[in-house]
Formats: sequence, structure tokens, C-alpha cells
Amino acid sequence: MLRASLLASALCAASAMGQTYWFSFGDSYTQTWFDPAGALPSAANPIGNPPFPGWTAAGGENWLTYLTAHLNTSLVLTYNYAYGGATTDAALVAPYEASVLSFVDQVGEFATGAGQRPPETPWEGARALFSVWIGVNDIGNSYYLDGDRGEFSDTLLARDYEMVEKLYESGARNFLFLNVPAIERSPLMLAQDESARTLEAAVIAAHNEKLAARVAAFAAEHEGVTTWVWDAYAVFSEVLDDLEGFGFNGNASGYGEGYFWGNDYHPGEGANKIFAERIADLLDGAIL
Ligand SMILES: *[C@@H]1O[C@H](CO)[C@@H](O)[C@H](O)[C@H]1NC(C)=O
Ligand SMILES: *[C@@H]1O[C@H](CO)[C@@H](O)[C@H](O)[C@H]1NC(C)=O
Repeated sequence: MLRASLLASALCAASAMGQTYWFSFGDSYTQTWFDPAGALPSAANPIGNPPFPGWTAAGGENWLTYLTAHLNTSLVLTYNYAYGGATTDAALVAPYEASVLSFVDQVGEFATGAGQRPPETPWEGARALFSVWIGVNDIGNSYYLDGDRGEFSDTLLARDYEMVEKLYESGARNFLFLNVPAIERSPLMLAQDESARTLEAAVIAAHNEKLAARVAAFAAEHEGVTTWVWDAYAVFSEVLDDLEGFGFNGNASGYGEGYFWGNDYHPGEGANKIFAERIADLLDGAIL
């Protein structure tokens, strides 16, 4: 018994040392409805609040909760600022509702909160991951507009990287960027004309190419950063091209239990589990 309890306390000490912080920014694809003014992430609930796994758009766990609490190689304390409906900046693309917190707003919440390294959140850059998955709503709410869409992607990404720069200045060194997935293949979009889907796909492809270039430039211009890009578009495509092979119902326009899509615009829990496994492979134990 004594040996067992010594072992238990040794393990506790090891996991306190192995504690990792994750600061996450995004939209409904990532959201768990964390309120930074509520209970903070802890061993009792690694997403702080609401009760694990929070309120997701996946109808259960999402990629973030899987990585936080199931595929983790350390105790991961996840501050998930992602907010359903978020765009990069409401001044560039208006969200569906004025109360939605954009990526710019979310970085503001971080900057005035955990970014100050208060005693209750003593993070260090080397042991903290910063993830950004934004763009679904920027493109979903604008791909059909007149004007040069590529130029608009440059404008969006310039704003995104002003925020990333702020995170870097506050001490962030490990960055995971997720690109815009194949939302033109969502049931919502499958109900539209093919021309709308073709157009949206082209806007996404151009955006993702620019995003990859941005990440490469950011990494080259900043000392001591590690960056990962998870190609969400490629993985969505791979799974959607072989639904049954991945164990899903083969009907690409269906959603709910047993389908890839949890509802008409968001991947369900099973799809999110695949995403988390792929991202864990990408990070390869370097963090989380
Ligand atoms: C992974 O996270 C869970 C939930 O916070 C925690 O109980 C577990 O100890 C963590 N795993 C490791 C290897 O630290
Ligand atoms: C696929 O799912 C959609 C949406 O639920 C439904 O309307 C359609 O009939 C289904 N197609 C087949 C072949 O089952």
C-alpha cells in the first residue's frame, strides 16, 4: 500500500511537471462554450467550464476535447476561446449575429486574461500550444460576393497574422494552424446549385494556399517558433471520398448518428475523432 501511494504521488508530481497549456481560437468547429470568467481549466475539468466536453457543434466530443483529454500525453489545460459563428474580424465579415466574438475579440480576451500570466495560469511558451482554426465563416459568408476574392483572402489573412503576431509578442512559440475545410461538401451546400459549390471550393483552395504561405513566412521571420499546419481540407476530402471505408453511412448529404456530418454544416463526433487522431500524428508528442 505504501509503495502504491508513493508511486501515486510520484506520478502526480510527474504530471504536474508535464502540464501543458493550450490556448485555442476559432469558431463552431472548435467551440466548447468556455467562459474565461468562469472556472479555469484544471485536472478536474481540463476545459474549465462548462462540464466536459462542453457544448460542441459535433453533438458530442470534438477534435479539441479528444486531443485535450483522450489523445493527450500530458495533463492539458485547454483555454478554448473559440466562439460559434466567429469570423476573423466583424469589420471585415459580419458574423450571423452581432454578439459573436471574432478571432480579433478572442485574442483580446486572451490578452487581458491568461495572456497576462496571472498566478492561476502560469504558462510558459515552451509548454503552450496556440491553435487557430478560422476562416469557415469568413469564406462561407463572402465567397459569392463581387470583387477579387483572392485579394480579400489577403486582407483576411493580414488581419489574422496581426493577431498571431500579438500572440507571439505575449510569448507564444508553438502554433497549430488549421486550414479551411471542404465546407462546399456539407449537406447545407449540397442543397445548393453545383455552381455555388464549385465557386466556394475555388475560393477555399486559393485561401488555403495563401494561408500556407503566410505560415511559412511567419515561421521564417520569427525566432524560436514551431509551426504545424493541419490540412483540414485534405482530410475532409479523403474521408468524404471514402465514407464507408471510414465506417460512416455512405450518404454524403445525410447527417446525425452514424454519418460524417453531425448536422448540415458541422462534422459529427466520429469525424472529429478522426481529425484528432490525425492532428495527434502531426504533433507527434511534441506538445499536448
Ligand atoms: C490526459 O487527460 C486526462 C484528462 O485531463 C487526464 O486524466 C490524464 O491523466 C491525461 N493523460 C496523461 C498521460 O497525462
Ligand atoms: C441521403 O440523405 C438525404 C438527407 O437525409 C436524404 O434526403 C436522401 O434521401 C438520402 N439518400 C439516400 C440514397 O438514402
